Amino acid sequence: MNDVFELRRTDVGGRIGELRVPRSGVTVETPALMPVINPNLQTVAPKRLETEFGAEICITNGYIISKNDDLREAALDVGLHELLDFSGAVMTDSGSFQLAEYGEIDTTSAEILDFQYRIGADIGTPVDLPTPPDADRERAEADLATTQSRLESVEAVDTGEMLVNAPVQGSTYPDLREAAGRDAAATGLDLFPVGAVVPLLNSYRYDDMVDVVAAAKRGLGAGSPVHLFGAGHPMMFALAVALGCDLFDSAAYALYARDDRYLTVRGTERLADLEYLPCECPVCVEHTAEAIEGMEDDERETRLAEHNLHVSFGELRRIKQAIRRGNLLELVETRARGHPAMLDGYRALLDHADQLETSDPASKDAFFYLSSESARRPEVRRHHDRLSRLSVAGRVLLTEGDENDAFDDSWRVVPPFGPFPRALSETYPLTAEVPDRLDDAAYEQAARGVRELAEANPDVEFVLAHHGWPARALDRVPDRVAVERLGSTDEYDGEDETEP
Ligand code: GUN
Repeated sequence: MNDVFELRRTDVGGRIGELRVPRSGVTVETPALMPVINPNLQTVAPKRLETEFGAEICITNGYIISKNDDLREAALDVGLHELLDFSGAVMTDSGSFQLAEYGEIDTTSAEILDFQYRIGADIGTPVDLPTPPDADRERAEADLATTQSRLESVEAVDTGEMLVNAPVQGSTYPDLREAAGRDAAATGLDLFPVGAVVPLLNSYRYDDMVDVVAAAKRGLGAGSPVHLFGAGHPMMFALAVALGCDLFDSAAYALYARDDRYLTVRGTERLADLEYLPCECPVCVEHTAEAIEGMEDDERETRLAEHNLHVSFGELRRIKQAIRRGNLLELVETRARGHPAMLDGYRALLDHADQLETSDPASKDAFFYLSSESARRPEVRRHHDRLSRLSVAGRVLLTEGDENDAFDDSWRVVPPFGPFPRALSETYPLTAEVPDRLDDAAYEQAARGVRELAEANPDVEFVLAHHGWPARALDRVPDRVAVERLGSTDEYDGEDETEP
């Protein structure tokens, strides 16, 4: 267990946690958004980020500060917090991103870490090597070995109470990401950013991002605080939180504003394309799109950056509330409907349902079946696992209709879960709200549940009585389960008749 991070609540892989930052003596609630502060160019003053937007933590670049004479001397003289005028926690990056962009930097990992410590950073970063997606395997392995040796060398630097990031690299190789996560956690460092995902996010490869993070998480384990390095678009926060990411950094709020772009939880809009401002933040309530467009460059950039921050912090509050209510996946599903690439990301997330199931609470408020993807949620997997371990005896009716005395036992069958004893009808997730017009995926999963139960009980005689399941679902029911279609009275007469 990590001794600066405590989990308070979980939903799917998402969690509300507390990160204790000893150097400033502050505690940051996660999931948290760290606005990126460009020390050379402040679109929104750091103090305002804290007081008006509620930022508890921010991130800036130690390398850029170290390379600018005025900034370096001021930071060494008065410290980073006073230089920035920010009293919350301050994380610093090391120049690795510049290394990835420009091919070289003029410092060593030990040097820049020492500098971050001396300017008073709360959380510092060694120089990791961000291997891009789809790199050659040999390069990914060699880069990873260098990153790992730098993480292991951190203990030779005096870092006092400063927390230290242990970035997880490994390109798009899940096994390397998992090993990197395991090795990073073993260093005993404090926070674990998943690195080099910016190229994936910039090209909307949310499904690949999901696989990379899921692999890193397998290696890191549940107790490690995880930062998704360079992820600042609010459309993907819910997806990333559901995977188990705890920290985000947003340069996007300022970069997009500079480019006249307006962030929403469904994607990005060009200001020039907006006749209306589809948002309730103070900027959008007080101005029209036309008025913002007519502003001087600096003012327009500031107003857009403020809107971008409001929408980003607002989405994080919505996510935290969803974790508390246990409906984070419903929110992810809603976001997945905003953009096809997000739908790919959500589908990839559900490929990891078994992994997510381990942190998903056993009981929540309600399960809303909202699309065919809901059929693959972790709760459905968990129910099927239980069925595969349940033992029953005699002749058992599995029915969408009424109980029947002609059998030793009569279970209910509800898509997408499949069969369950009637006594469990009022327990989560079997109280699910499902639409009347269900899709085939729900029936196919119910059939899978029937199969799990039948395979666990090879000597039991099962009859499935249904209200017209699609053929694709019935094909998945094992042959030895007798299948009967229910009539309008919903009663099954006990006669075995297998459908042709
Ligand atoms: N910022 C965005 N991606 C990265 C990364 O992989 N490593 C570091 N240190 N900073 C980043």
